[in-house]
Amino acid sequence: MKVVWCEEAAAFDRAAADRLLQGLHARDKAFVALPTGRTPLGLYSELARRAAGGVGLPRRARYINLDEFVGLGRGDPQSYAAYLQRHFLEPARIDAERVYLLRGDAPDLAAECRDADAVVARWGGLDLAVLGLGENGHIAFNEPGSDWSATTHVVRLTEQTRASQAPPPPGAPGVPEQGITLGIATLRAARRLLLLVRGASKREALAALLRGTVDPNWPVTSLIGHPDLLVLADAGLRPMEDGAGH
Ligand code: GLP
Repeated sequence: MKVVWCEEAAAFDRAAADRLLQGLHARDKAFVALPTGRTPLGLYSELARRAAGGVGLPRRARYINLDEFVGLGRGDPQSYAAYLQRHFLEPARIDAERVYLLRGDAPDLAAECRDADAVVARWGGLDLAVLGLGENGHIAFNEPGSDWSATTHVVRLTEQTRASQAPPPPGAPGVPEQGITLGIATLRAARRLLLLVRGASKREALAALLRGTVDPNWPVTSLIGHPDLLVLADAGLRPMEDGAGH
């Protein structure tokens, strides 16, 4: 595991974009899993900025989202699918046939999980998984206590996770109680991992990872021992014994 501490948001976003591009160029038709949330917004803006400057993404690369809310279809503005369309797929002009977006409104969720697993297998496994970090240590929607041997599956979201989501617009239903997520087995099998950690609320979860002890209460610790894990983190989250910043 390599940890890079970023003093400024712009440096964080640039480093994330560099790592993503490295993953995308790792092989022809590279396959990448992408996160949602506040943390990667700067990464997506950085990619759009580079694309506008002529540095586009490899044309044949393929993408999947890490997770989705159960009940929300791809067209629902609150869905993670819509977020990715808005912030990445449209600005970067990615063809729809190169993207698999989890269907949170699938009538048969078990079949949807199998379909997602089949896509992961058909597209050669993940070359890179870009991950955010939940306050409780979740990665994608793999909550504390989840089965680390699982591939894509349906999960019950914790109250903390539901509360941390962007509030639904007035009149819209509340944050769903369940999610569908790529499982830890799928994420750990990715050839490269990029974990993005930003914001004081992530301090405890990041500290759990940096302690280096695998702990089922902190799903992010399932990544310990991965051969190619890069953690990009706010310099403000640097533990005291690590030196600068305090
Ligand atoms: C949600 C998503 C996660 C994401 C996390 C952190 O729970 N399901 O995939 O990593 O939020 O989001 P943020 O970057 O907004 O803190």
